[in-house]
Amino acid sequence: MAFLEILHFPDPRLRKKATPVDEVNDQVRQTVKDMFETMYDAPGIGLAATQVNIQQQIIVMDVTEDKSRPVCLINPEIVAEDGEEEMQEGCLSVPGVFENVQRAESITVRALDEQGVEITLDADGLLAVCIQHEMDHLDGKLFVDYLSPLKMQRIKKKMLKMKKLDPLESDASPQSANII
Ligand code: NI
Repeated sequence: MAFLEILHFPDPRLRKKATPVDEVNDQVRQTVKDMFETMYDAPGIGLAATQVNIQQQIIVMDVTEDKSRPVCLINPEIVAEDGEEEMQEGCLSVPGVFENVQRAESITVRALDEQGVEITLDADGLLAVCIQHEMDHLDGKLFVDYLSPLKMQRIKKKMLKMKKLDPLESDASPQSANII
């Protein structure tokens, strides 16, 4: 078991694009395990490999309150989407910031699971938002990119100031539900 360090915005490494996983082997499974531990510990409901400085297309999620439904998607690809939905999002890499983002309401995603088996998943609601948010991470994109430049600038300042003061202070947030 290992907790991984989560990168914080505006760390440039969050802008790196992840590459597809060639083979789902034991090393990949260990990464998945570590990512779940890190996500649950944070606590958050989703984590992309990019956030822990691993440039592989791996995301882990669990949107249930009792942590009963871990979902791991490797090389995820959205094959269908429908509708629009706006939901308040937070992110483990942008602690303390919550903003509304518009995304597809329901999606169908194709991916590999931890065993390397191809799966197709239909998702809506929070899970759909979570998958889209995490897939953005793999593409070097953050939810704050959807905000106005002014708002983005303000968040950047806040993050840099927080880092200077006390990095642990950023963990204090009452709204842990949508931190993805
Ligand atoms: Ni995030």
